[in-house]
Amino acid sequence: MLANVQPDIGRFAETVVQWQKQAGRHDLPWQGTSDPYKIWLSEIMLQQTQVSTVIAYYQRFLERFPALRALAEATQDEVMPYWAGLGYYARARNLHRCAQTVCEKWEGKFPRQVSEIMQLPGIGRSTAAAIAAFAYGERQPIMDGNVKRVFTRYFGIIGNPAVRAVEQELWQTAEAAIDAAPPELDMAAYTQGLMDLGSSCCTRTRPTCGLCPLGGHCYAHIESMQRELPTPKTRKTGAERQCKMLILEHQGKILLEQRPSPGIWGGLHSLPQYDDLESLQGACLNWGLDPAQALKIAALLHTFSHFKLHIEPWYLRSPAQAVAEPGPRQAWVAIEDLPATALPAPVRKLLSGLFPDSG
Ligand code: ADE
Repeated sequence: MLANVQPDIGRFAETVVQWQKQAGRHDLPWQGTSDPYKIWLSEIMLQQTQVSTVIAYYQRFLERFPALRALAEATQDEVMPYWAGLGYYARARNLHRCAQTVCEKWEGKFPRQVSEIMQLPGIGRSTAAAIAAFAYGERQPIMDGNVKRVFTRYFGIIGNPAVRAVEQELWQTAEAAIDAAPPELDMAAYTQGLMDLGSSCCTRTRPTCGLCPLGGHCYAHIESMQRELPTPKTRKTGAERQCKMLILEHQGKILLEQRPSPGIWGGLHSLPQYDDLESLQGACLNWGLDPAQALKIAALLHTFSHFKLHIEPWYLRSPAQAVAEPGPRQAWVAIEDLPATALPAPVRKLLSGLFPDSG
């Protein structure tokens, strides 16, 4: 039957906040301030450097440049010694340029909107959102490497996060998690909690799921997919592909789509297939169906001779009164007729798992 791995998006953010308050980090030198200058400095230092290394550099830097104006008024030669040893020196050059820009364009006061902050030198969307959340409590999502791991695992987001469509799905999911949270959500604790979870419980190689507050609804934990998520980069380009499939059920029937010939599975009857979630959701909307009702079920990996296909199936039961009009090459097929239908092997496996009488 349906794998019972439904993320609890409505409770996600608050669960992270509660955990952060009990078990997260509270004594880092950049916590307990809402000064955007100090927060920005820490976020830039932490972009490519570990917390334990950053702490001493951060304190030394702030002693020499205690406020944004002090940094803006210094020369680059005066700044560089305070960065020496941290690496990635473009960060220091951008930091200096950014301080000058904030003085010139913003009268020395860091802007508040993420869209404005991310125009500044050396600041991407995630860093801008972290600054806005910590300094101003803005409700904007972050998505750094650690947070991508938490989201791909919890929400079962398949595909390498460096792929544009996957990254977009991650950002959309992170926005939805904030939208689903109550208005009083403590954004600083939530943002810090995601970072803390990613660096303590939800580590890359040895996640401690027993200690994780999200375990009860985490896709990777329930499906034992911690090692597969986030999906690594493919070694040979083209060796792995991913798709989403829609299992649309309406009164004992399933919508199937005949695959074009020539092509993989040419002539077989498969499930409607999409490259990304947006396209799948768009198809549901075109049928007048609510994509938010679709349930993601356990992923499948199918190996062809020359590539692997990651299939992410979504199940949607159509209400009795809303019959989706089949598109070209599509038809409704009764579940009891599936055994006699020419289905691709992974689709048969998927459908017989869902409907035990069908295979
Ligand atoms: N990495 C990036 N930002 C961080 C923060 N505020 N605390 C700990 N680690 C981080």
